[in-house]
Amino acid sequence: MRTEQLVSTFVEYFEELGHRLITGSTLLPPPGDPVLFTTSGMHPLTPYLEGSPHPLGKRLVNVQRCLRTTDLEEVGDATHLTVFEMLGTWSLGDYGGPLSLGWGFGLLTEGLGIDPGRLHATVFAGDAHCEADQASLDLWQDRGVPVELTVEDNWWSNGPVGPCGPDSEIFLWSGDGPPESTPTRDDRWVEVWNHVMMRHRRLDDGSLVPLPQRNIDTGLGLERLASLLQGKSSVFECDLFDPWRRLVPPLWRLDEPSLRLVCDHLRSAVVILGDGVRPASTGRGYVLRRLVRRVLTVLWREDPSYSLGDLPDDLVRDTLDHFRQDRSPGDVRHVLRDEEQRFRRLMERGRQVLARPRFRGRLSEEDLHYLHDTHGLPRDLVTSLRRG
Ligand code: ALA
Repeated sequence: MRTEQLVSTFVEYFEELGHRLITGSTLLPPPGDPVLFTTSGMHPLTPYLEGSPHPLGKRLVNVQRCLRTTDLEEVGDATHLTVFEMLGTWSLGDYGGPLSLGWGFGLLTEGLGIDPGRLHATVFAGDAHCEADQASLDLWQDRGVPVELTVEDNWWSNGPVGPCGPDSEIFLWSGDGPPESTPTRDDRWVEVWNHVMMRHRRLDDGSLVPLPQRNIDTGLGLERLASLLQGKSSVFECDLFDPWRRLVPPLWRLDEPSLRLVCDHLRSAVVILGDGVRPASTGRGYVLRRLVRRVLTVLWREDPSYSLGDLPDDLVRDTLDHFRQDRSPGDVRHVLRDEEQRFRRLMERGRQVLARPRFRGRLSEEDLHYLHDTHGLPRDLVTSLRRG
């Protein structure tokens, strides 16, 4: 099943159940949200989870692009991407957790043909602030799905303050043999769908108060489920990456881990640029800059003549089209090339400065501050220049 078909199956299934499709928003969260980028489908819906009536009602479904930098070091494994898409459903003070989980189970097994024997669930075990999620446990036991109880792993929050609650996660077995062990002990259990019983708000002092209504917020990782349904062993092999795998290897000779990093970060950079962010030394622009520099570091380790100027227009266009972004590929490539030139100049200056006798030995904190403040050389760049 191609990703597009997976999206329409999901949306139609929930539309049949009375959900209205809302348009996903950009990667930029609404003002006042505590995070730099949208990291989950619920961000644009925060006011409605907090009780404001949504114009389309109490049952919603959407596809939301998200960006997570917390997983940056894990990008390249089988399941993590920097920019990914989340299929989401919401009950805004309408139905409760068991109905949501039951529908989720129905879609995965009957709708998408997944063998129920390949599923595992996790459920909140309870702690000093909130009781165990007995209703979810009962639902899974009724469906014959094995359950693991955890505390921290089954609590979802949107940053240190704001809406939060216990969750129940659905995992799919990705191993070759029959399923074994449990999600926290064996990473061949891949988390595909999180159902959050979002009924609390965390305040500045850390305490929990009830939200004005009991909501359900779910998020399904599109690329993860697509790759598993397509019988692939990593998200980098699902159909969305076909153009990248076809067009990047003839351009740059890279081993598989480097190819994955380059494709992930460049694709993410294109989407961030598509949403109107420009490289900068702080905030969102700095995230973009770091992604581009990580790509260039990997490329130049292989061959210093590799250049982002060679990135095919088709690849940029395919990505912008997929995310329905109305920006010209030429403009995106232009910014990437400028950023590359800036980084090349910075590297050259860095090499010259670091060749001075003062910086040959171990660097003190004072040296690092001086290099940053006077020469614009960030700590991670200094480290990588000295390494190699
Ligand atoms: N908001 C929940 C998550 O991102 C669904 O996992």
